[in-house]
Amino acid sequence: MKITKAIIPAAGLGTRVLPATKAIPKEMFPIVDKPAIQYIVEEAAKSGIEDILIITSRGKSEMEDHFDRSPELEAKLRAGGDSKKTMLDQVVDVTKLANITYVRQMEQKGLGHAVLQAKKFVGNEPFAVMYGDDVIIGEDPCIGQLIRAYESTGLKGVVGMKEVNPEDIVKYSSLKTEPLKDNIYKVTDMIEKPKPGEEFSLFSILGRCVLPAEIFEILENIPYGAGGELQLTDAMKVLACRDGFAGVDFTGTRYDMGNKLGILKASVEVGIDHPEIGEEFKKYIKEVANNL
Ligand code: UTP
Repeated sequence: MKITKAIIPAAGLGTRVLPATKAIPKEMFPIVDKPAIQYIVEEAAKSGIEDILIITSRGKSEMEDHFDRSPELEAKLRAGGDSKKTMLDQVVDVTKLANITYVRQMEQKGLGHAVLQAKKFVGNEPFAVMYGDDVIIGEDPCIGQLIRAYESTGLKGVVGMKEVNPEDIVKYSSLKTEPLKDNIYKVTDMIEKPKPGEEFSLFSILGRCVLPAEIFEILENIPYGAGGELQLTDAMKVLACRDGFAGVDFTGTRYDMGNKLGILKASVEVGIDHPEIGEEFKKYIKEVANNL
């Protein structure tokens, strides 16, 4: 079945980047000139996704404003003629990327609980999940790579994965894998936030997955897990152990916009390649580096 729906969980409290996240959603932090969530929606649109549900929460309505029309701003830019044409296009184009709807997660009870809010939107189709604070930049859009693996392997679901540093695995999930073909693996077990020694491998789920609709029934029946949260990994584990999942060691660079270092790395690396300010920024970075 063709995958045309994606959900973006973006309702978390973002405590790792307080106080910035007190009034601004981390998903709206800019990377040079676009908010994180716009990179994610663009990745979805390039991968054939037509309908997106953003899981949001109190105090995060900026995301809705960003993808909405802005008549006053547009009129002002239009009146500016040719000199404002590019800006006008940027402001309008963002409203046409996909059909975007929103639902609120009223209490932040974890990623699994956030995904459960999408049950009605998803219906009976397989769907994509794109974590709202994980920006992945590359030639080949990440969720498109996972959708292709879903179609080619015929497995129940797919996770995007990468190896993480040994000291970091306790903060992520760990996957039990067998190689299938090229950068695609079969995933037969997984654990969220393994205690030291409990990990299967250094492969961890990062930012993207494709899931069947039966995940909702599992989420409704499993207990709350690590950190007292309803963990999506615990629900995926049930399917992976029973039927097998695919794992794609995806190409592209992932930036974790939920932590301070990730935010800085994204700005520096995207800034260096930016068509407008890249050259000047490179000179500046070299100057800074020389003084370190
Ligand atoms: P994180 O665990 O990275 O987000 O979830 P968080 O809870 O905001 O982080 P900290 O630990 O407080 O800093 C990954 C994605 O899932 C969303 C987040 O918004 C983020 O985009 N999420 C997380 C929800 O939508 N609801 C939740 O209850 C938890």
